[in-house]
Amino acid sequence: MTAASVAERPYTVLSCAMSMDGYIAGAAGKPLPLSNAADFDRVDAVRAACDAILVGAATVRSDQPRLMLRSSARRNERLARDLPPSPMKVTVTGGGWLDALATFFATGDTAKVVYCASPVVHEVSERLGSVATVIDGGQPVSMQWVSEDLYRRGVERLMVEGGQSIHTQFLTGELADELHLAVAPFFVGDSTGRRFVGDGRFPWHPGRRATLAEVRQLGDVALLRYALSPRFRGEPLEEV
Ligand SMILES: NC(=O)c1ccc[n+]([C@@H]2O[C@H](COP(=O)([O-])OP(=O)(O)OC[C@H]3O[C@@H](n4cnc5c(N)ncnc54)[C@H](OP(=O)(O)O)[C@@H]3O)[C@@H](O)[C@H]2O)c1
Repeated sequence: MTAASVAERPYTVLSCAMSMDGYIAGAAGKPLPLSNAADFDRVDAVRAACDAILVGAATVRSDQPRLMLRSSARRNERLARDLPPSPMKVTVTGGGWLDALATFFATGDTAKVVYCASPVVHEVSERLGSVATVIDGGQPVSMQWVSEDLYRRGVERLMVEGGQSIHTQFLTGELADELHLAVAPFFVGDSTGRRFVGDGRFPWHPGRRATLAEVRQLGDVALLRYALSPRFRGEPLEEV
């Protein structure tokens, strides 16, 4: 990748909470209480410093995430900088099965963007056009193209919050600059659950180790912060 092309996508932070055996959801997709209060607050601070938060459509459907800042102080700080109170929300879909009443769309006075595969653009625009900007992402939708398009729309800092499919694509596509892995102190032990990533050719392997930039204890949760690209900025987490 050339220096010029590196600059054409947002600085990208992947964020994930997982069990000690790497699960991000329980058996058959059951939600897991992975984070604790201190870790939720850390995630809130990271969100506050981003222009957009991206999750996959399966997460929109199963978790019904709000993806809004919890802290009123952080919302007010953003408003004082002429930013919306919470970052833009972004999702990606191939099949288009997204409901306009989903919490993702129904909450927050902030822009919502849906990248969808070309064959379903028309149908998705009709269903979601009043609650989101629907963008033809091609067929198939590539996360590189999505990243570059978000950058063109003014997103300089992107937070990617999963799930497995999305994290796998950002990592294998070398589209992440840093990774925040919060490890909760328990096991799931059931392979019907979802793990952090699926199969793929990851740029980090025994012959090319990622850089561990920080380890932090947040109560019973361990935060591991990895630098994944030469663009890694390494600001203290309180300031990102
Ligand atoms: N612990 C955590 O930090 C955390 C965070 C987030 C989610 N989760 C968990 O992760 C699980 C969901 O993970 P997941 O891997 O099943 O789903 P996901 O990554 O959230 O979303 C996958 C969906 O996104 C769409 N998509 C992904 N890549 C695409 C592409 N290139 N082109 C078009 N559409 C694309 C597809 O939507 P369509 O099906 O609509 O085509 C696909 O089914 C849930 O159990 C959730 O609870 C955990």
